[in-house]
Amino acid sequence: MPVDVEKILRPTDTPLPPFPPKYMTLAGGEHLVVRQVGREEIPAILPYIEALMHVERDFYDIVAARVYAELLAYFRHRVQDEYVLVAQIDGEIAAVVNGRRVDENVGMSYHTLSLRRGLRVGAHAFATKMEYHMDILGQKEVLIVAESPIGFRRWMIEYNLEKRFHIPHELGGCPSWSLTRPLFEAARGSLVVGRRPVPQELLDKAMERILPPSDPPKPPADLLAATRSLYDATGTALMSQGWILEGRK
Ligand SMILES: CC(C)(COP(=O)(O)OP(=O)(O)OC[C@H]1O[C@@H](n2cnc3c(N)ncnc32)[C@H](O)[C@@H]1OP(=O)(O)O)[C@@H](O)C(=O)NCCC(=O)NCCS
Repeated sequence: MPVDVEKILRPTDTPLPPFPPKYMTLAGGEHLVVRQVGREEIPAILPYIEALMHVERDFYDIVAARVYAELLAYFRHRVQDEYVLVAQIDGEIAAVVNGRRVDENVGMSYHTLSLRRGLRVGAHAFATKMEYHMDILGQKEVLIVAESPIGFRRWMIEYNLEKRFHIPHELGGCPSWSLTRPLFEAARGSLVVGRRPVPQELLDKAMERILPPSDPPKPPADLLAATRSLYDATGTALMSQGWILEGRK
């Protein structure tokens, strides 16, 4: 008897309430729209994430590689109960955040990736996904890790997260931190911003197409920068140059 293996491999997602889109005005006066994307929009996002896999600065490489895998897993039905939100400025992709529901009380924050630097779009997108876990999914806590010093400053310090070091996080088994409901309520007035409903023309622009980032983080153009990265235990720039010289890439 033929067996439909796909039915076995594919997890059955728990029906989750959708994230109601929101918008906020950034320091420079631009509007940032944050909305949920479904599987059909993932292929349009992947190339912008892929380009960041070779940007070592601020740990974009490891975060981008993992985000790429998480988005692909969502698209290909190889992850349980994931959601993805994008933040856009005039249609342009500015940040991506994702996570998943572990159970009715606990959320797992996956990643926050900013594609437009210096405007706190990453911070706003992260706050928005915490709002999704707390206000929309009604969970009690969200488990979080940081993979970069900027992430540590943004999440652990700014929200005063609590240690849950006995819980290995899904991102590499690292010790978890927790955003509890009281911590979220304490941050609500200052860190969680934005309004609803999104004006129709802003939402239409965001929904029309996910436009490429106009000024994304880029790898260093000069060899000296690559050489310096040799002394960075996380560096890959010099290795990848070696591979090109050896014709392996
Ligand atoms: C962590 C992250 C999401 C924060 O995004 P953000 O809130 O939009 O903040 P930015 O990255 O633009 O700015 C962070 C700091 O870098 C500095 N910065 C601003 N523009 C910058 C630029 N063009 N290049 C480098 N640094 C810049 C700022 O001084 C800012 O300092 P502040 O904390 O005093 O405001 C983002 O840095 C990012 O995507 N990093 C790589 C992936 C990552 O580490 N994700 C978190 C994993 S848990």
